[in-house]
Amino acid sequence: MGGVSSESAGGPADRLEALIRGRVGLRARIDALAGQELARLARARGLGLAEWVDRLEGGGLEAAADWDAVVNLMTVQESSFFRDRGQMDLLRQRILPEILRRTSPSAIRLWSAGCATGEEAYTLAILLAEASGGESLGQPEVILGTDVNGVALEKARRALYTAWSFRSVDQSITDRWFEPGQLPGSLQPLPGVRHGVRFQQVNLMDPQAPDQVGRATRDLVLCRNVLVHLEEEAVPTVVANLVACLRPGGCLVSAHGELRGRVPSRLAVEVHAQSVVYRLLEAPPGAPLPRPAARPILSARPPTLEAHPPTLQAHPPTLQARPAALLQGLSPPGDLLDQARECGDLGDYTRAQALCSKALEQDPTHLPAHFLAAQLAESRGDRNEAFAHLRRILYLEPDSAGACLEMAALHDAQSEPEDAERLRGSARQLLRQMPADRLVSPYDMSAREILGEIQG
Ligand SMILES: C[S@@+](CC[C@H](N)C(=O)[O-])C[C@H]1O[C@@H](n2cnc3c(N)ncnc32)[C@H](O)[C@@H]1O
Repeated sequence: MGGVSSESAGGPADRLEALIRGRVGLRARIDALAGQELARLARARGLGLAEWVDRLEGGGLEAAADWDAVVNLMTVQESSFFRDRGQMDLLRQRILPEILRRTSPSAIRLWSAGCATGEEAYTLAILLAEASGGESLGQPEVILGTDVNGVALEKARRALYTAWSFRSVDQSITDRWFEPGQLPGSLQPLPGVRHGVRFQQVNLMDPQAPDQVGRATRDLVLCRNVLVHLEEEAVPTVVANLVACLRPGGCLVSAHGELRGRVPSRLAVEVHAQSVVYRLLEAPPGAPLPRPAARPILSARPPTLEAHPPTLQAHPPTLQARPAALLQGLSPPGDLLDQARECGDLGDYTRAQALCSKALEQDPTHLPAHFLAAQLAESRGDRNEAFAHLRRILYLEPDSAGACLEMAALHDAQSEPEDAERLRGSARQLLRQMPADRLVSPYDMSAREILGEIQG
């Protein structure tokens, strides 16, 4: 059964790729699998591929449903709750409290742009509820989640999530903010969280996007792991649309490095320990915009335990009482690692790193310590070190599917989809070879569960 990927230059596959690039900005490559699916869609309409692509190019009502199917096929839906611990800490400890100080709670508006299946939008809702000290957001539609992929948005509205979506979430968060969903084994955000989130289909390349979302209405725009999938030429259009929706003083946050070298001059660059934040410069009505900061504004030192007494109170007092003893190496690696994770949760990356290094000094083969070290390195943007730890894991345990998946995620973030997919392929192979019930580090999920989530 023929696909479309083998078409010659200028054939239907090339035209379709160009159409996808032009309309949604995606760096689309129609591979054999996608080609077969597209050929199937064309056949279902009783059309040859070239005619079908003609019809898509022509637009119109009939083509709209097929166009949605193309977009759904070509977009990458990978997401999870509290993805990137460092950025989540930054939002929790600095950005959201600051927004709450500047804006009355009823007026706050946040946007998760390219929200896929909704995990990021609900994460924002939970972080905002935590920052405002409430059990729920109170207001409806405080958070808008948008995506070009309608199927993903349906899942976001249904809000039923399996363990895979919680792979970077502490149990305390699921206990507090989620309840069992209707599907066996699924969890759903509490009604107070869901109530605050609305989803809408928006194509970030569309000139109408700022009007659909609301010009100058957003205190925070999160657009993470979206720009990496776009053509270089599409990025300025998308970024301009995102910035058009920011209020003066509002913040744009992308995944690490996604905006590097492509920051519009109206944005000031703030460098925090956990992430870079782009802030729309304030301007009084009618006044010319001030000049952007000539160089990045370095935030105060990374938040330390001492700087955040309220957060500390929520955690066991052991951190204050024992760090000196811990750093002298009196605890076994597992204990050091637990303490390192707690420090990471509190945003104290310096101590988390020190504890993790100590654990590795004591036992250089300690795989969980390498996983944590990789995560900490990624949080501070040091991908080389993150890769080094993951490669070490593979050296020590060649069948570590978890290391392959973590490396795949790093490649995703570096805009290297082919490397990412190759590693996911290796992970699939390793997972199929192991007993289906075996728990896979660092996720605490079984091989069967993970395979169910990453089937290619
Ligand atoms: C990898 S997911 C990122 C999900 C989430 N932001 C996160 O970081 O976990 C990328 C999402 O961007 C969406 N996307 C890609 N191009 C888009 C466009 N032109 N307009 C809106 N969404 C787009 C895709 O449909 C996909 O759901």
